[in-house]
Amino acid sequence: MDNKIKLGLIGGGLSSFIGIVHRVAAYMGENYVLIGGVFDVDFDKGNQFAKQLDLDASRSYPSLDIFIERELILPVQDRIQVVSILTPNFLHFEMAKKLISAGFNVICEKPITVTADEARILEKLVEEKGVVFGLTHTYTGYPMVRQMKSMIAQGKIGRIQKVDAQYYQGWINPCIHQEEERKKVWRLNPKMSGLSCCMGDIGVHAFNLIEYITGLEIDKVLADLDTLYPENELDVDGTTLLRMNNGSRGVITASQIATGEENNLSIAVYGDQGGLKWDQEHPMYLKHLIEGAPTQIYKPGNSYNSEFALDSTKIAPGHPEGLFDAMGNIYNGVAAVVKGKPYREGAFPTVHDGVRGMSFVEAVLSSSSQGQVWVEVS
Ligand SMILES: NC(=O)c1ccc[n+]([C@@H]2O[C@H](COP(=O)([O-])OP(=O)(O)OC[C@H]3O[C@@H](n4cnc5c(N)ncnc54)[C@H](O)[C@@H]3O)[C@@H](O)[C@H]2O)c1
Repeated sequence: MDNKIKLGLIGGGLSSFIGIVHRVAAYMGENYVLIGGVFDVDFDKGNQFAKQLDLDASRSYPSLDIFIERELILPVQDRIQVVSILTPNFLHFEMAKKLISAGFNVICEKPITVTADEARILEKLVEEKGVVFGLTHTYTGYPMVRQMKSMIAQGKIGRIQKVDAQYYQGWINPCIHQEEERKKVWRLNPKMSGLSCCMGDIGVHAFNLIEYITGLEIDKVLADLDTLYPENELDVDGTTLLRMNNGSRGVITASQIATGEENNLSIAVYGDQGGLKWDQEHPMYLKHLIEGAPTQIYKPGNSYNSEFALDSTKIAPGHPEGLFDAMGNIYNGVAAVVKGKPYREGAFPTVHDGVRGMSFVEAVLSSSSQGQVWVEVS
């Protein structure tokens, strides 16, 4: 256990949606051991969770301030080293700021903050304190997404001339039509979700994936967002046109009212020599479209993949790996840097990706509210 990284969680307890993904992911590379945290907004429930996991009860804390105070008293070798923030969005900034200031390495759920300025403050702080900061844009951890990134960097599809990312979910449809139902959803509450629901929650994943895979930046956006009801404050659907920094065009369509859809995230990148297409619900298949020739399907674990994609696969070809494994790759990437290795390009999204993501969300909101005009992603 002594060579394992001591992990803490803020949120992620019994009632949490994303907690299980982080906990399983953390154990995938045998790099971490979960020690403690503030597992729930309700301390009793947090303690119940700690008991269920057989954790030392003294490391289940009632608040982040007490977590930091008590952990810092411990000898360095016993202290939690990496803390994952898995709470609703509005808490990320203050929590990350306190943890980084106290010298903890942080893994933070997206969206990193609720404003771009907050994200910039974190970026500066991370640099000043020299801690490691990973942002869990989970989809960047899939082997075939990494293969797509490698192939584009190797010039396999030539000069990029079109990008198209779609992220469709339908889970808000049953909650959106009645005010009482809307009130139960924290993602529709600006005090908890931030400036945006759909674009901040899932549009930002699509944005991140485009920049991650292509290595390009999205310079400008023109967005048309919909709240569906005037009294519903946050967007639940949106279409965003993109101008990339190589002059090419693209589009992000995101919706949480795409009735019947589950987690339909897909991305296509077209170059002057071919195209690449991947979708999250079928993550084992990367399609390579070649002009005048049959489409090729790339699958994980095969030696024709890039070293980066192969290093992101744990098992022989034909054995499906999914979301937990993708998150596991991000945890492994963070672990390597915490253990002193240099950052491997693409191994995990960084605080800078967080700044880019929040700049995108702000630009999209500004574009739509001004009547669909082009706005720069600063
Ligand atoms: N990477 C992804 O693909 C992905 C997927 C889902 C959610 N998320 C992100 O994860 C975060 C959490 O989302 P969720 O769907 O798991 O939410 P959730 O409502 O299911 O869980 C939130 C958890 O935070 C805890 N919590 C709230 N306030 C707290 C506090 N002050 N101290 C400690 N714990 C507290 C709650 O008790 C609960 O366990 C969000 O920022 C969301 O955007 C990311």
